[in-house]
Amino acid sequence: MTDRIRYAPLLKRIVSAEEASLHIQDGMVVGMSGFTRAGDAKAVPHALAHRAKLQPLKITLITGASLGHDTDKILAEAGVLARRLPFQVDTALRRRINAGEVLFLDQHLGETVEQLRSGSLPPVDVAIIEVAAITEQGHLVPTTSVGNSVVLAQQAKKIVVELNRSVPAAIEGFHDIYQTTDRPGRAPISLIHPGDRLGTTAITVDPERIVAVVETGLEDSPAKIDPPDEDTKSISRHLSHFLESEVARGNLTRSLLPLQAGIGSVANAVLMGLIHCPFENLTMYSEVLQDSAFHLIDAGKLLVASASSITVSEGCYARFMQNLDHYRNRIVLRPQEISNSAEVIRRLGVIGVNTALEADIYGNVNSTHVNGTHMMNGIGGSNDFAHNAQLAIFVTKSLAKDGHLSSIVPMVPHVDSNEHDVDVLVTEQGYADLRGLAPRERAPLIIERCAHPDYREALHTYLREALQRGGHTPHVLEKALSWHLAARETGSMRSVIGV
Ligand code: COA
Repeated sequence: MTDRIRYAPLLKRIVSAEEASLHIQDGMVVGMSGFTRAGDAKAVPHALAHRAKLQPLKITLITGASLGHDTDKILAEAGVLARRLPFQVDTALRRRINAGEVLFLDQHLGETVEQLRSGSLPPVDVAIIEVAAITEQGHLVPTTSVGNSVVLAQQAKKIVVELNRSVPAAIEGFHDIYQTTDRPGRAPISLIHPGDRLGTTAITVDPERIVAVVETGLEDSPAKIDPPDEDTKSISRHLSHFLESEVARGNLTRSLLPLQAGIGSVANAVLMGLIHCPFENLTMYSEVLQDSAFHLIDAGKLLVASASSITVSEGCYARFMQNLDHYRNRIVLRPQEISNSAEVIRRLGVIGVNTALEADIYGNVNSTHVNGTHMMNGIGGSNDFAHNAQLAIFVTKSLAKDGHLSSIVPMVPHVDSNEHDVDVLVTEQGYADLRGLAPRERAPLIIERCAHPDYREALHTYLREALQRGGHTPHVLEKALSWHLAARETGSMRSVIGV
């Protein structure tokens, strides 16, 4: 144990997960490490759920993003979650959120830190942070994510550490722990290249506040990613053609600009396709590294990747852990306030590729709310990037649910990234470059290039009627959400095309 706990006084604070969980009381605000299933607290939250069966226990839970090991499900089913922020991807929790049983704050992932620091969110009582080691000074070496762990650990009155021995100690050094300074007079974040390092390799905390250390040995839950299919391969091809045309026009070089890719199967598959493209010496400035980033590194295409977490399949996880030295100078893990910083994203000129559930004929994107009301996962970092990127690209398949839903609709019933932020829309049908176009120019282009042929004529018919009503962004208000009404009532939009 001493090899991992290098601050000797903490050796006396090693306890079981059950004992550590007693620091958390009903009504508390609890912060946990974890970002898209990576580097999450694994033992104490489960002990907490067990305790909740015996006594009333409800908490506000703040993390970096989603958690693995069914932790959100187990906590939700045990009734532990009163409020949850800023992101989740769990089916059981999603059901409770949509039933109004858990209050969910769907936040830009780069902003939770600011809200904690400014007092817009209540202060954290207890932070549970997974680490690979504790340094000689009592500082915390994270594992596969940094997320919001820095602010959570530094704000919390008490810190519970989960020391995960399954993560090689050699992961120390992958992290760049840097925070912004206080306002007013905040200093610029002087990050000029995705691989730059500005901070320390461990989270500075007062070790006196570490009240418990729990030993664990579970690996992160593997990412659930579907392999590329014909549609995602087509999306990837269209995206590459767009980027190649930007190179041909002299707007980009063959190294492009730092890439960001959103979570999920579609974004992963799209990025994977870049392996076969004529781009070279790529860099990434993203919030999550999925399998695609490792494939690109191993193919010699990607020089350096910066993110806040590593969320990969089982095989890719093993490859990373067994070859840490190979990846050491190619990967930097940062707090999410830095990975998702508006200032840095804009300075670097990031090319952001995020996934939409649906987009409308003017380019407004809904990434979160099915039929405008029911939460899917959350906005995540998609708009941290889209709003500040040099190129904000959204990808989606043109159809969902076996063709019952069109992902291009007259009007989205919920907007996460609005028409002002969306530069390019890509589906398996093609891409629509919306830059420099007015709404009346965008709509026919999106319909022709991105909508599925089954729904194209119905969209044109809607647009023709809307144009007769006039306006800068013409709509037939009484029909604008009729496609979603059909979907709500019948589970299908097919009635709008007379099927
Ligand atoms: N209406 C309703 N449901 C839709 C839909 C639509 N227009 N389009 C897709 N879906 C459903 C799919 O059917 C699928 O449902 P299932 O899980 O029941 O099978 C689910 O949404 C996921 O879609 P999928 O096509 O598998 O794509 P994905 O895994 O790439 O996820 C998002 C797509 C939009 C849900 C996901 O990217 C997301 O949560 N984005 C928001 C957060 C974000 O962008 N973060 C980025 C910064 S890291």
